[in-house]
Amino acid sequence: MKNLFKYKNLMGKKIKNICCIGAGYVGGPTMAVIAYKCPHLNVNVIDISEERIKSWNNKNADEIPIYEPGLSELIKKCRGKNLFFSNDIKKHIAEADMIFISVNTPTKTKGIGAGKASDLKWVESSARQIAMHANGFTIVVEKSTLPVKTAEVIKSILDAAQENYQNKSNSGKFSVLSNPEFLSEGTAINDLINPDRVLIGGEDEDSIEALSQIYNNWVPKEKILKTNIWSSELAKLTSNAFLAQRISSINSISALCEATGADIREVSRAIGSDSRIGSKFLESGPGFGGSCFKKDILNLVYLSEYFGLPEVASFWNEVVKINTWHQHRIAELITKKLFGTLSAKKIAILGFSFKSNTNDTRESAAIQICKDLMDEGAFLCIHDPKVSKGQIAKDLNCEPKNNNLESITIQEKAYSGVWQSAIDIKTALKNADAAVILTEWEEYSQINWYQLANTMRSPAWVFDSRSIINRKNVVDAGLNFWRVGDGVT
Ligand code: UDX
Repeated sequence: MKNLFKYKNLMGKKIKNICCIGAGYVGGPTMAVIAYKCPHLNVNVIDISEERIKSWNNKNADEIPIYEPGLSELIKKCRGKNLFFSNDIKKHIAEADMIFISVNTPTKTKGIGAGKASDLKWVESSARQIAMHANGFTIVVEKSTLPVKTAEVIKSILDAAQENYQNKSNSGKFSVLSNPEFLSEGTAINDLINPDRVLIGGEDEDSIEALSQIYNNWVPKEKILKTNIWSSELAKLTSNAFLAQRISSINSISALCEATGADIREVSRAIGSDSRIGSKFLESGPGFGGSCFKKDILNLVYLSEYFGLPEVASFWNEVVKINTWHQHRIAELITKKLFGTLSAKKIAILGFSFKSNTNDTRESAAIQICKDLMDEGAFLCIHDPKVSKGQIAKDLNCEPKNNNLESITIQEKAYSGVWQSAIDIKTALKNADAAVILTEWEEYSQINWYQLANTMRSPAWVFDSRSIINRKNVVDAGLNFWRVGDGVT
């Protein structure tokens, strides 16, 4: 039964029922942690996808739709007690005192702002569902990363739509908060349990306090930052933009290191020792990937343009441009080192996910680099311990060759650029002219080059875009070696 004390002033009244719209990458782990840390709360995660909810309810908690270290343990502890996954959207919205919106906000592919602005259709439909079914005073929390001023949009949808939908005798009132998520893939549970900070933006102090009390069950008060709603929305975008900007900065300097004889690892260490700069996020690689960085920066670019700030827009746009340039640069230098042509050459691609310990390939640098190499006529043999062949085919927009290597004609290799997936590293390297390390999987740092070098076609190369290979081992095995930002070799 709904808490009868749910009107304007929530102070002193306990939130009991929480609902989260969206059982995805943010909603699932965040609600699992809230349920675990707050046994006095009922947490319902709802989604329109029956398949996804079924999968969250899988008896075997190790087969839930998202793999994150520690997540299945939390699911085992809480599911069926105070954590539930359901398709009954109406019921759980109606019962909720607080509703989190954790739906995805992909970049728009057409219309105004295409390629930059976020598509808010799922946010809008969530707001409409809340307006239709909510019962009494309800706090609505934006969890998804959203453009600045989205709270205003949500609030106006809620206010306007409730006129149409609400049972007048039970008319709802809404308070909208922004509470962005800062979790990283692979460390999501740890990031949620030990956050650097929790950000809550809003106007209604009672609602802010109600959400703050939930976090305060495990997060110290001084780490809970309360801001106005626009600052909170903008801080999330800016936070990701700053992180991405650091990577673009260091990657741009890596090119200069290669040209001048400097070493990017030494430069990173030297600048990272300045406490004002700090040492994290200074590793040069093949270019940043992942679902957030590019999307959030493009969003920032769109907002800056929208608000008449073209210089600001172009500043942030360069961060994305340098990232793409860096990916092309790597593909180009591989081509140059292999005598300017990749036609009929086999290249082993080691790693396809955007970083290690995940099977996520969204915006992975490997996609662009592989496409460029295939455009040059290379034959790619792609290995990744977690990414499926089907996913690679989708990302490359090209089906793999299933026949064995020998049956692929020189013409096919030379003119269309083809790829196969390799079941292991050894298969990938066999007869290869080069190995290109694109993801920092632990197993690649342990490759025994002495054993495998003579299975490659001489003169063979190892291209290490993640700086995880011991140079001496490769060179002593008789292979040529390149690594990102290393102007010494
Ligand atoms: C990121 C943010 O870190 C997180 O706070 C936000 O909520 C979501 O976006 P995530 O996408 O999981 O998290 O990946 P992250 O670990 O930040 O790495 C992003 C990309 O940068 C990866 O491709 C990674 O390989 C690359 N990277 C990271 C570098 O190239 N060098 C570095 O020093 C760090």
